[in-house]
Amino acid sequence: MGEIPTHVAIIMDGNGRWAKKQGQERLFGHNVGTESVRVCSEFAVEKGIKYLSLFAFSEENWNRPKEEIDGLMELMMQSIANEKETYRKNNIRFRVIGERRKLSDTLLKSIDEAEHETADNSGLNLLVFLNYSGKWDILQAASRYSKDALTAQREGKQAEPLTYGLFDGYLSTCGIPDPDLLIRTSGEQRISNFMLWQCAYTEFYYTDVLWPDFRKTDFNLALESFNKRERRYGKIK
Ligand code: IPE
Ligand code: IPE
Ligand code: MG
Repeated sequence: MGEIPTHVAIIMDGNGRWAKKQGQERLFGHNVGTESVRVCSEFAVEKGIKYLSLFAFSEENWNRPKEEIDGLMELMMQSIANEKETYRKNNIRFRVIGERRKLSDTLLKSIDEAEHETADNSGLNLLVFLNYSGKWDILQAASRYSKDALTAQREGKQAEPLTYGLFDGYLSTCGIPDPDLLIRTSGEQRISNFMLWQCAYTEFYYTDVLWPDFRKTDFNLALESFNKRERRYGKIK
């Protein structure tokens, strides 16, 4: 096996269609999807991937029926509780990225707990994107930068010049390297407002496999495809 990407991001899509195919409710698909999350986290550990980013709920997903949203939030709570042993066993550091204000107090409490409990784990960084959108991230970064710049000005100091590197530090992914590989399941070939800024030079991989069916062999195919890519960053070879 060739080079292992440092950061793999996944748009976990197709739970609803998978459930429909089984003649089940959409939530059943989301439920089985959490098994794919566990399998992929363990596979990432096995492969020595340092960061695994999972898009779990987008800002736009609030536009779904309340019943589905409530079910997804409940599932998130359950899965945090259930996976604690997986995190401990595999030295996984768990973190949630996104706008937290809209999340319920009980969910926030269990997120805080899991983040706190795994904070010293030094293996895989498992990043779950919850109520996240790429445009939100860029806006919140711009707004925090301008606040800092205004404060500096008021104190008679020079605002720090805005560079790509400085801006990176204001994003919700501060300190995390940009994704090397972005996988999207279920055959859709779009970014759906995921890490817009951070994916400037990410390699994209699409598969028709629906998320609840996505297993190690599928993940491995994505890694193999990544290995055949020639990343040029605008240069010539
Ligand atoms: C992905 O599966 C999970 C979330 C977006 C929360 P979907 O729920 O989007 O499933 P499809 O795309 O409708 O099949
Ligand atoms: C993207 O999937 C968001 C997540 C996987 C959390 P969607 O199913 O919401 O995306 P669209 O609506 O098909 O673009
Ligand atoms: Mg979808």
